[in-house]
Amino acid sequence: MIWHPYTIGKQNFEPLKIKSAKGEFLISEDDKEYVDLVSSWWVSIHGHNHPFIKEKILSSLEKLDFTILAGHTHEAIIQLTKKLLEFTENKFHKIFYSDNGSNAVEIALKMSIQYFENLEIPNKKEILHFSSSYHGDSIGAMSVSGKSKLNDIFKSIFFESTEFISPDCYNCPVNKNPNNCNLECIDKLEVYLEKNHKTVASVIIEPIIQAALGMKFYKKEVLQKMEMLCNKYNVLFILDEVFTGFGRLGKKFAFLYAEISPDIICLAKGLTAGFLPMAATLVNKKVYEGFYFSEPEKAFYHGHTMTGNPASASAACASIELFEMENRLDDIKNLENFFQNKIIFWKEKFDKKIFNPRNIGAVFTFEMGNENSNYFDIHSKKLKEHCFKNQILIRPLGNTVYITPPYTIDLENLENCFRIIESFLKNE
Ligand SMILES: Cc1ncc(COP(=O)(O)O)c(C=O)c1O
Repeated sequence: MIWHPYTIGKQNFEPLKIKSAKGEFLISEDDKEYVDLVSSWWVSIHGHNHPFIKEKILSSLEKLDFTILAGHTHEAIIQLTKKLLEFTENKFHKIFYSDNGSNAVEIALKMSIQYFENLEIPNKKEILHFSSSYHGDSIGAMSVSGKSKLNDIFKSIFFESTEFISPDCYNCPVNKNPNNCNLECIDKLEVYLEKNHKTVASVIIEPIIQAALGMKFYKKEVLQKMEMLCNKYNVLFILDEVFTGFGRLGKKFAFLYAEISPDIICLAKGLTAGFLPMAATLVNKKVYEGFYFSEPEKAFYHGHTMTGNPASASAACASIELFEMENRLDDIKNLENFFQNKIIFWKEKFDKKIFNPRNIGAVFTFEMGNENSNYFDIHSKKLKEHCFKNQILIRPLGNTVYITPPYTIDLENLENCFRIIESFLKNE
């Protein structure tokens, strides 16, 4: 019997059985085509079952099933590493592979602690994080995620990490106007670092959009100031790009969108475009130099069994190639134009029914209910049911509804999905 993730135990629920998938469609056992407006948990960036990726995986499997990566290497991982370093515009120096986003984060956190230990700079052990962040479901990732109903039960076993209020330009935590603010939302971080930098190892944040805890958008200047503070106080700056990486914001990565150079980035989800599990933690030269010693005790003793899996590496290589081959960033630009037009229309048409319709790249999101609605608001649940009846899959985050389709979605199909959502909003 399957224990389904994020699913209430005692619930009258029949999971939708999917038998196949193609492009933006998931096809159920009874031959209905459902539009996957969430790219299946944000992974299927080129659409489902892209033949180019499938072919590369199959030809990889013809040659090599698996080999341990500790002390060994293989062609697929060598090729992927070359491609991924180029794709991240040569800002990074080494790539550490794992198999999911939570692990990519755990690795970044552990590296940031050991970095200062190896350099014999004592006491730099604290990792700072933000309130609406989500970095995964393992204990370390939860320790640096925003505290919420989803992780509250485990809080007594989290390691200590100071939580700062999240930047949010659509609901400013310090009541400023983002068009002319002085980034007051990070004043507390600045004061904390000034006082305590000798005990701080790193700062971790989801760049530009804090996704899973409410699609909170903030401007790039916030990241630029954080980068400046981290550099000033010798603190490593970690960006969790598990959601934002691989084009979601219209640039290849959010750090390029924000025009900054973080020390470490975490990637997963879009890395293999949904075909196989894989994650990567990329570090710059400065971080790697903290591990470049001959003493065995300064090595990074971390490794997951399936690390560097050849078929996953081949899928990731093919996915990166597709960005060039099929001009994927142009598709995202077209999606962004589509969403921008919808924002203009929705603001006029659905004022007071929805709030803060917003978009960057291939992300469209808004809140439902009224200004006091919270995570348990029922409006979005009703919208989800309406969509499901019309063969559209969405997964609202409480009263926040988001649309993050495969970049290749046909815009007429998308328009049709919007019509169905709009018909619901009209009658609300
Ligand atoms: C920003 C971010 N970091 C980390 C994770 C965890 O990734 P995984 O589910 O692959 O462990 C997620 C998952 O949604 C995420 O959105």
